[in-house]
Amino acid sequence: MTPSILPGHPYFAYRDGALFAEDVQISEVARAHGTPLFVYSKTAMLSALAAYQRGFAGRDAQICYAMKANSSLAVLQVFARAGCGFDIVSGGELERVQRAGGDVKKVIFSGVGKTRAEMHQALAAGIGCFNVESEAELDVLSEVAVAMKLRAPVSIRVNPNVDPKTHPYISTGLKGSKFGVAHEDAPRIYRHAASLPGLRVIGIDCHIGSQITETTPYLDAMDRMLDLVASIEAAGIALDHIDFGGGLGINYSTDDMPPEADELWRQLLAKVDARGYGDKKLMIEPGRSLIGNAGICITEVLYTKPGEQKNFCIIDAAMNDLPRPAMYQAFHAIVPTTLAPPHEAAALMYDVVGPVCESGDWIGRDRMLDVGAGDLLAVMSAGAYCMSMASNYNTRGRAAEILVDGASAHVIRLRETAAATFQNEQLLP
Ligand code: LLP
Repeated sequence: MTPSILPGHPYFAYRDGALFAEDVQISEVARAHGTPLFVYSKTAMLSALAAYQRGFAGRDAQICYAMKANSSLAVLQVFARAGCGFDIVSGGELERVQRAGGDVKKVIFSGVGKTRAEMHQALAAGIGCFNVESEAELDVLSEVAVAMKLRAPVSIRVNPNVDPKTHPYISTGLKGSKFGVAHEDAPRIYRHAASLPGLRVIGIDCHIGSQITETTPYLDAMDRMLDLVASIEAAGIALDHIDFGGGLGINYSTDDMPPEADELWRQLLAKVDARGYGDKKLMIEPGRSLIGNAGICITEVLYTKPGEQKNFCIIDAAMNDLPRPAMYQAFHAIVPTTLAPPHEAAALMYDVVGPVCESGDWIGRDRMLDVGAGDLLAVMSAGAYCMSMASNYNTRGRAAEILVDGASAHVIRLRETAAATFQNEQLLP
């Protein structure tokens, strides 16, 4: 039988009715390593990266993987070895880059609330750029750098005031957002930055939001950014790079139709060239689009529970493993790992829920499934913002992770034991 491909997931496919990640049969890894279990495809990661690399071919460009999407060390290794830098948002993420062998010179540090200790740590490590988000942060960074007899390389995050048309919690480029500085204040703030002794102004950046599936917000934001580049450079402040922030959305379902990264960048670069800035270094910080559809979460059905109004399919993964439905009402496709389940149950409409003691602990609503206890399900598009947002709520150890490379399945994270979840706690005397 030819492999049947799941939409958006070319490296996860059914062969003779059994779900595979590349050449590894999912039910076999799940039986060997237990569930819930995250499984990533290295080929899917590299092929997502390749779309951006094609988009920037022949350009001075740096792709900085936004590691908040998935900061597991082996995931970072794959992207570091492929030449990526990293967009970090904490001193902890910097330590992960260093542990994974990433190049700190290719690290950019984003975020509205960097502490003095984190600034010191990043300056000592020699990161490539601080993406500064307020005037107050510029002053503190300059002070920290002067005390270290250094000049911090900075870019200022500007809010282009463009509506990305995504979930409000992940829209960041509108007025009223806590991120960045206002577009109209940017020239004045750039002049202030250029006057500070501990700073070296090198770039400009923006980030309008995440899970954006339309082209227009990006094109509008680029126009707004290029206007600012012109006025900042007219004030005598040269900018080496333009950082365009996070990457594209992904297709969680066939309703989401994001453009391909190379096609979007063809249009964006045409704007950059038309304004005469084609020689500037370009940077981007994609997270979700590099790893989201490269990962799935395998979970076992514990019970089915028929109800008067709803049928529940209770699985062993929960909101602590897969927080996106509870936090953003996000949709993740849920599919069986075997197309012909061995039992006789007829397909029914289920709410797929986890064991956590909250009504918000649902993973999928109103899903037609033909399942019974012991069956395995795959929650799709679970590579990004799942493991990195996982918690120990209800003292649930975090799931194990497997990275598939062809026919090899590497364990990249052991299942967390309950003891590990409370190892830093201390009993009273
Ligand atoms: N750069 C900055 C400054 C960011 O804040 C983000 C994401 C990115 C880059 C990467 O954006 P991406 O390429 O992944 O769209 N937890 C939410 C998403 C939060 C995004 C936060 N910032 C979710 O699960 O949908």
